[in-house]
Amino acid sequence: MTDPRLAVIVLAAGEGTRMRSRRAKVLHPIAGLPMVAHVLTTARHLEPAYVAVVVRHQRDDVAAAVLEYADTAIVVDQDEVPGTGRAVELAVAALPDDFDGEVVVVSGDVPLLDAVTLGALVEQHRAATASATILSAVLDDATGYGRIVRDAGGAVTAIVEHKDADEQVLAITEVNSGSYVFAASALRELLPRIGTSNAQGEKYLTDVVALLRQASAPVAAVPVAENWRVAGVNDRAQLAEQAARLNAMIVRGHQLNGVSIVDPSTTWIDLTVSIGQDAEILPNTRLAGATTIERDAVIGPDTTLVDCEIGEGAVVKRADATLAVVRAFAEVGPFAYLRPGTELSGGGKIGTFVETKNAKIGRGSKVPHLSYIGDTEVGEGSNIGAGTITANYDGVNKHRTTVGSHVRTGSHNVFVAPVTIGDGAYTGAGTVVRKPVPPGALAVNVAPQRNMERWVAANRPGSAAAEAAAAAIAERALGADSDPAGAE
Ligand code: UD1
Ligand code: CA
Repeated sequence: MTDPRLAVIVLAAGEGTRMRSRRAKVLHPIAGLPMVAHVLTTARHLEPAYVAVVVRHQRDDVAAAVLEYADTAIVVDQDEVPGTGRAVELAVAALPDDFDGEVVVVSGDVPLLDAVTLGALVEQHRAATASATILSAVLDDATGYGRIVRDAGGAVTAIVEHKDADEQVLAITEVNSGSYVFAASALRELLPRIGTSNAQGEKYLTDVVALLRQASAPVAAVPVAENWRVAGVNDRAQLAEQAARLNAMIVRGHQLNGVSIVDPSTTWIDLTVSIGQDAEILPNTRLAGATTIERDAVIGPDTTLVDCEIGEGAVVKRADATLAVVRAFAEVGPFAYLRPGTELSGGGKIGTFVETKNAKIGRGSKVPHLSYIGDTEVGEGSNIGAGTITANYDGVNKHRTTVGSHVRTGSHNVFVAPVTIGDGAYTGAGTVVRKPVPPGALAVNVAPQRNMERWVAANRPGSAAAEAAAAAIAERALGADSDPAGAE
């Protein structure tokens, strides 16, 4: 149920210089979703009446992503005044004037902070009727963070930024995680009074704490139980670290749901993937996007599936597939490449060194070896010979190949599209199918073989081939002499 007294402000206006990226920092993905999407999901779980997201750098990209994952969010544009204080000031101003509840402030680059932790923080804040409650962390190395300064009695008196701190403050190991709960009224009253005369020339949100203290308003700081939850992502090393942590949690979740995952450290599963019971995921496998895997399927090793649908009991081994559908008990791989629009029906097979694209392969039909099948429909129970190529592209346009049911095509065929092979038809090895093959016909168009005797001796005299041929011919002549029957 929506909490009418709760608002969440997500800070996402910063530049993210250390990512060294053309992409906005908060749009870098972990577990298949941009960082800011994870933060918005957490915000939604708090069931606030309002979510406001502050943007500035790469504004349009970030705003579009925000609205994609939280269509009711209020997008707030930060002006040229820098700092977290200004960001929150503008966000609070974007809330309804009569909103008088609590404001949770989080950063768009802290993707693993969860709603349980934040919900508990809101409860503590309300129970203590505090004006501000800071989620803090105690770190071995506090470099770069704002320090939580407490008085002799333990009460929080200020947050001092690293760049503004003296020796004594730098020695403090309790830091500001950058997530807080504030009384909206305190922010409304105090943020306009904060200046930019500090080491960074920014309006610091954290300066609110000292002002509250001066006004004798209660401020609390609560250390987080697990520091990694509040770890921000500032560079790509930290991005990979948080991605690995989230992945480990996702893998564990599937394991506890009854999925066998042999090697969690080499198995990467997006948050958006679903996997049925008793499925088995073998090492070096990445399951991405909207992929769904039904029960008892076996995926991997060495497999990447992006936006794929895998049916019950299907086996997908050493494959790379995008936007492909593999139905129940079908088999894929090893070494298969399934491109968008591939649909392998129940009991079918796309085998070794086979590439498919826009290919619908009917029930029990097989493309077992060394083939390219594109823009094709194959009926049921057909077998496509080893080394078959659909020549679907004439250099200008793509054309379709249609193969019926219970067809047997020979090895090393080319189907020159557009072309149709009727139900129950056969083709010989090496056939280049350019014309329709009627149902039940055998199509052959390879020229009869002609052997030009001693062609090598005449045309490649002195070569190794000529020598080998001469020796074999001599040996055959000798054999013929000693064996009057001339058996070979
Ligand atoms: C901030 C805190 C610091 C805390 C640290 C935790 C302040 C003044 N300091 O410092 O006490 O230990 O986070 O990581 O708040 N942002 C905006 N607009 C701005 C500036 C920043 O939206 O003008 C956003 C950033 O995109 C980021 C968040 O605010 O998501 C924090 O900003 P950042 O510059 O990383 O703050 P820190 O210097 O790390
Ligand atoms: Ca930061």
